[in-house]
Amino acid sequence: MLGTIEIRQGLYWIGMEDPDLRVFDDLFPTEHGTTYNAYLLKGTDKTVLIDTVEEKFVDEYMDKVRSLVDPATIDYIIVNHTEHDHSGSLAYLLQQAPQATVLCTTAAKNFLVNILRTPVKCQTVKDGDTIDLGGRTLRFVIAPFLHWPDTMFTKLEEDNILFSCDAFAAHYCETGHIFNDEVDDFTSARHFYFDCIFRPFKDKVLAAVEKIRHDVIDMICPSHGPIIRKEPWKVICQFEEWSKPTSQSKKIVLLFLSPHGSTEKMAHAVVRGATRDGLEVISYHINNLSAAELRNLMEEADALLFGIPTFNRDIAKPMWEVLAYLSTVRLKTNIAGVFGSYGWSGEACKMAEERLKGLGFKLVADSVRTTFTPTAEVLEQCEALGKAAADAVAARQ
Ligand code: FEO
Repeated sequence: MLGTIEIRQGLYWIGMEDPDLRVFDDLFPTEHGTTYNAYLLKGTDKTVLIDTVEEKFVDEYMDKVRSLVDPATIDYIIVNHTEHDHSGSLAYLLQQAPQATVLCTTAAKNFLVNILRTPVKCQTVKDGDTIDLGGRTLRFVIAPFLHWPDTMFTKLEEDNILFSCDAFAAHYCETGHIFNDEVDDFTSARHFYFDCIFRPFKDKVLAAVEKIRHDVIDMICPSHGPIIRKEPWKVICQFEEWSKPTSQSKKIVLLFLSPHGSTEKMAHAVVRGATRDGLEVISYHINNLSAAELRNLMEEADALLFGIPTFNRDIAKPMWEVLAYLSTVRLKTNIAGVFGSYGWSGEACKMAEERLKGLGFKLVADSVRTTFTPTAEVLEQCEALGKAAADAVAARQ
């Protein structure tokens, strides 16, 4: 186990390595493992802990704390974000440091009530608030949704060090090395991490970067992966670049499945109805697209139309996956429409309508459904659906 490491005078990494972790949050693959970074700062007057670690490492974490200070002398515990990988050892730490004051956002304070289920001595902070440690100053930058509503950054002003928690981080662990200039290039792991964690919050990333744009930052101390002491702004700019909108033109994206060709015929009619000057209308069979391509198209769309046949009284699995991707991206639209062919029961379109409404979409019309082969009348209804979607996009301009 890697011991404590002094990364600046009086500032120590007291994190844990987890190189064998292969899935994070039960959801995201972690091919390179991860680290849970936490820090201890000894000011002239005050001692501060910044974040804790996953609960399974609590004993090793507490040993590291004790090797540097008596926990009873800790003045502040900064909770930049309350997810379990950073707050998992907090309850144990507070038992050893009952006099310490937790510093966090108002949202984090509310979350801690329900996470710890025990009273906590808590002081909430606002954007720009500072605390003086005796010759060193900590300033708080509220950064909601990076990664939860509770999140903030902490800046050690005199040292130009940003404690960014999940932001500018990566699930990446090269055992025994905690700095980015000691390890292989892990940009692809960082980009994958961004896609998993931050893609739905791109606007929040841009807002947070704007808040720190004029800060001098010599080092980023994130909560996962190597500390960024080489080219920290390059990493911030990567997050910014990955968060920018990719397309300026107006676009309707139609995604369909069509095992017997009927829903595809309906898709062609929807496209005919939607087509007009100044609006790109593109239609894809979803099996021809990768997950990355599907998610990119969703983010570029000004309206999303779905051709969904019924399969065994349900939406077929590949289309359920497409509908699941909707909550993993930063959509710029809430305009949608649904159509599809079925044989005898036809539940899929209604299911999709409910899913879309649950995500806040507004349907441009009732879904167009037909048994088996669409008639000329049904194809006219499909054209009308396409036209309604184009009108809705135009109305947003
Ligand atoms: Fe690393 Fe959102 O927790």
